[in-house]
Amino acid sequence: MSDAKTDPKKLFIRTYGCQMNVYDSERMAEALGADGYVETDTPENADMILLNTCHIREKAAEKVYSELGRMKALKVDNPDLKIGVAGCVAQAEGEEIMRRQPAVDLVVGPQTYHRLPEMMEQVDQGKKALDTDFPEESKFEHLPTRHGVRAGAQKARRNPAAFLTVQEGCDKFCAFCVVPYTRGAEVSRPVERILREANDLVDRGVREITLLGQNVNAYHGAGPDGDYSLARLIWALNDVDGLERIRFTTSHPNDMDDALIAAHGECEKLMPYLHLPVQSGSDKILKRMNRSHTAESYLRLIERIRAARPDILISGDFIVGFPEEDDQDFEDTMSLIREVKYGQAFSFKYSTRPGTPAAERALVDDAVADERLQRLQALITEQQRAVQDSMLGRDVNVLFEKSGRFEGQMVGKSEYLHAVHVNADVKPGDLRRVRITESVRNSLKGDVLD
Ligand code: 5AD
Ligand code: SF4
Repeated sequence: MSDAKTDPKKLFIRTYGCQMNVYDSERMAEALGADGYVETDTPENADMILLNTCHIREKAAEKVYSELGRMKALKVDNPDLKIGVAGCVAQAEGEEIMRRQPAVDLVVGPQTYHRLPEMMEQVDQGKKALDTDFPEESKFEHLPTRHGVRAGAQKARRNPAAFLTVQEGCDKFCAFCVVPYTRGAEVSRPVERILREANDLVDRGVREITLLGQNVNAYHGAGPDGDYSLARLIWALNDVDGLERIRFTTSHPNDMDDALIAAHGECEKLMPYLHLPVQSGSDKILKRMNRSHTAESYLRLIERIRAARPDILISGDFIVGFPEEDDQDFEDTMSLIREVKYGQAFSFKYSTRPGTPAAERALVDDAVADERLQRLQALITEQQRAVQDSMLGRDVNVLFEKSGRFEGQMVGKSEYLHAVHVNADVKPGDLRRVRITESVRNSLKGDVLD
């Protein structure tokens, strides 16, 4: 047994919300890892609990407070336990969190978590620490590089699919959305930093990278030879040896430029999957949402993307019950969905977010919004199902990630992001051709060829 005093301190992180939070949680673990913390899977034996939170809808934000109530109880058995709140609730509510839940020791926003080690020093001295600045310096330039992370603080090999943030924040100001306030203005990371990080990931076994940004296709980073658009960045990543697949999310219709559309047809490593939220199919509602595109322009855009890459799987986001949405507006959304034929979509009932322009407007009756959401989700489920079933008998490429639930089963993702199960002797990181034999509830089954 090792001496308790030299045991590394244990960090438990719980992540809510989007993929960028998943990425941020990893980087926070690395920042604290360089400070001697190792990650644990259970909050009960942790020295530090960090909730990385989401503020996008009311429910997501409220979850944090109920979770904090549960975590506070752990302080009874473990008085040295520290509790921190990170992410978008931290940014939006700041000090209010400590007022509502005095057990919280630390509050850190999404742009300042590179300062976590200093903040922890303060907390270790029994003080509270709060930092929700939008600093001049970029956290990315101040975080330990992935190579620099102390052994043991990080698993040596990684999941073969990883996220990499290339752009953050949003200048679009959709009337319903908190992101421009919690994540701040659009900022793109420099190309060389991204390439270095991608190479580091590949060295650790990563074969697929999803480029992340709240408005990822608005990416415009400084490169060694001028400014890079997202398309140009993707082409640069296409040359990284050992990297097999590139994806990106989330995009805005207005930033789908010609080069990016063409890349979907020409860039070998760019996967045929595009998440392109439209939110509504009614021009009246789109205008009130401040989306600055129409249903028609979105449909024409989808046509152009499909002309470049006919088999591309289109995914989207929808909000129902936005203020003043009437029956006709909703029917317009349903027609748009019927026309696009989504392979995947996420839909939400409008949730009022304090401080956003739409928060001032009259709400749609709750029962009406519920009914619309149900109808929309039924249509989406039907479409998803049809797209998934259309894979039957086809051969797809699968990047295997982990064991399945059953003995001998392995699961990976096809190029279209469908989960595919096989019973075969394959390892995580293997990329194999698979013939699809069955389409079950939320995944496909198949046989490895060769
Ligand atoms: N209410 C409901 N859904 C929202 N989204 C963003 N803000 C809200 C809100 N206030 C949805 C949008 C966005 C996705 C990430 O979350 O559809 O694309
Ligand atoms: Fe929010 Fe609109 Fe920006 Fe997306 S584009 S993050 S929905 S403001």
